[in-house]
Amino acid sequence: MNYNKKSVRDADVKGKKVLLRCDFNVPLDKQTGEITSDKRIVESLPTIKYLLENGAKVIACSHLGKPKGEFKKELSLAPVAKRLSELLNIPVAFAHDVAGEESKKLADTLKGGELLLLENLRFDPGEEKNNPELAKKLASLGEIYVSDAFGTVHRAHASTAGIAAYLPAYAGFLVEKELSIMGGALDDPKRPFVAVLGGAKVSDKIGVLTNLIDKADTLIIGGGMAYTFLKAMGKNIGQSLLEEDKIGLAGEVMEKAKAKGVKLLLPIDVAIGDRFAADCEKKIVSVDDIPDDWQGLDIGDKTIALFTEATKGAGTIVWNGPMGVFEFPAFANGTKSMAKALADSGAVTIIGGGDSAAAAEQMGFADKITHISTGGGASLEFLEGRELPGIACLQDK
Ligand code: 3PG
Repeated sequence: MNYNKKSVRDADVKGKKVLLRCDFNVPLDKQTGEITSDKRIVESLPTIKYLLENGAKVIACSHLGKPKGEFKKELSLAPVAKRLSELLNIPVAFAHDVAGEESKKLADTLKGGELLLLENLRFDPGEEKNNPELAKKLASLGEIYVSDAFGTVHRAHASTAGIAAYLPAYAGFLVEKELSIMGGALDDPKRPFVAVLGGAKVSDKIGVLTNLIDKADTLIIGGGMAYTFLKAMGKNIGQSLLEEDKIGLAGEVMEKAKAKGVKLLLPIDVAIGDRFAADCEKKIVSVDDIPDDWQGLDIGDKTIALFTEATKGAGTIVWNGPMGVFEFPAFANGTKSMAKALADSGAVTIIGGGDSAAAAEQMGFADKITHISTGGGASLEFLEGRELPGIACLQDK
């Protein structure tokens, strides 16, 4: 995939109506409906500010949750308009429809340096269907399209892909940064290139495993998915997570790593529990000594030392997926140590969204990581080397 896309800096935005796709899919409090983290809004500010300061008339839009094509009061973007206004310290106009009469009217009366936010795009059934009529209607609101919604670029929707057929399409700063850092790591990594994969399931990571095994020098596998590999090595894994139908694939990955000279590291000891609970009984054992009725919930101390050692001297480290059940404090050590290993490594470090990103943030290492992707599903598909519709539709440089 070509990651070299025209950025908002390449567009002449002065006095132009710019349709800006953001990812304001923010977490909301179930009871009060309040925004519980405005991180995604804050991350969109550099592009919004740039556009406003350069005299653009900004028409921002986003989805929120999964309203399935109908209006749902609790998924309105009105609270996001309020938060944007507080963060930018300017009034933010809000249209109660998606590319309807009100949006059109408000967009047409915007002046340079002013901001309008449209209602939740997914209230329109055409959005997720990538309906060309909706894409055309959205496009008619603006003169230029800018995508800064990295978290949503893996979706081929009217506002993320279809719209680019009708307007010149540019990347915002957030998308540009994701492309240059993650794209750079995949295309031309500073070596040695170490990939760290974890998370519960092998099946969720097949694409990433297959893509990275062709690029990495070292592949570290931890988390729930490691047990299917240990099983493929003939070990007894007790009650640990197992995907029976992926044992063959795990074996193939190990064979391929050997054939390609990729160093593949698996846990040598694990923290096990007598049941899946935060207050279970815990002990650390060798991977050769997992009792039948116990289960692995984290990597052990010797494994932490082994994995940490493998990150030393790395040029690039990409990490996706926790090393254990870090939601249980007694089993958070592996994930925490991995975050620390990345932070201390001196390498270009990239954490691909989702749980591992949340863990690094929670554990206080975020500011020592080169790049934490803002996309969960999107960064995973990126690391799989797949073509992302929301990127492919932007103009090449
Ligand atoms: C996300 O939160 O990962 C993005 O906003 C995409 O949301 P979606 O999974 O509902 O498409």
